[in-house]
Amino acid sequence: MHKVIFDTDPGVDDAMALLFLHNHPEIDLIGITSVFGNASIETTTRNALYLKQQWNIAAPVAKGLGETLDPTRPHVEWPTSIHGDDGLGNIGVPETVDLACDPRPAHRFIIDTVRANPGEVTLVAVGRMTNLALALRDDPDIAVLVKEVVIMGGAFDVPGNITPAAEANIHGDPEAADVVMTAPWPVVVVGLDVTEQTVMTRKRLADIVAAGGRQAKLLSDISQFYIEFYEQHVEDGMVVHDSCACVYVVAPQLFTLRSGSIRVVCGGLADGETIQKIDDQLFPPSAWDNLPSQNVCTGIEAEAVLDLISKTLALEPAA
Ligand code: BDR
Ligand code: CA
Repeated sequence: MHKVIFDTDPGVDDAMALLFLHNHPEIDLIGITSVFGNASIETTTRNALYLKQQWNIAAPVAKGLGETLDPTRPHVEWPTSIHGDDGLGNIGVPETVDLACDPRPAHRFIIDTVRANPGEVTLVAVGRMTNLALALRDDPDIAVLVKEVVIMGGAFDVPGNITPAAEANIHGDPEAADVVMTAPWPVVVVGLDVTEQTVMTRKRLADIVAAGGRQAKLLSDISQFYIEFYEQHVEDGMVVHDSCACVYVVAPQLFTLRSGSIRVVCGGLADGETIQKIDDQLFPPSAWDNLPSQNVCTGIEAEAVLDLISKTLALEPAA
């Protein structure tokens, strides 16, 4: 069983990833921490609570702070054209959800939960890296107590998606991402190099709804707006960025990894760019030296990943 804290900015593809984690029999979802990105922190937290309520998820939701690690960073506009004004595809999420958050801020929830389960917790982070960086800042010793950190973010051998250099989750808080990539915990980065190859067609989503039940129907309703946006980029369907990171937790054999230290460009033209110094490549002394080697996904068995996502989303766990 994998104990997972899901750090997320729901977010349409986040919603799919959440349902995957909730349904997968080998995952014990022990916490959901909200971060801003696809919408404001108020909206992403409300959305996490809404999905928890609709899908009957037991895990608590802890709310993140609403600003970047460096609070002087300029605000990046919310991507309403991708995720809708409500962050969940404009399905009409109620303004408020009658569920309470965990009393602790997200980073404190992460620290406490990791300390209570030493060596057992996998952090799956699919939004900005702010909460993880704050947890490390408050308690750096948790790094060696975390089992693994799996990140959706970054673009290594492909262009970014918010600038030619940067992927959105990393670009939204580059200082935080640099802290996370360079910390002494094992990181696997599932970036655009592989997520953009993983496209769920309309037909596949419809098949999931036919095989599944009420849960899958809500997910499909949420996804329609995002699918329309992605028509500019893919022939048919949606790129399932965040679900790829969740699949890695239970099926790492479907991914090819490359090892090396990672730095994030903070500021300037390439703000938010992720750059790996591949192990054994020789350079004069640089900012990539004496840092932990982290793994970047460079290959993915996309059809097998989509099959696993489909099978898992169609499961309807007992209420
Ligand atoms: C990432 O950015 C967000 O919009 C998505 O939810 C995903 O986590 C893709 O770049
Ligand atoms: Ca996300």
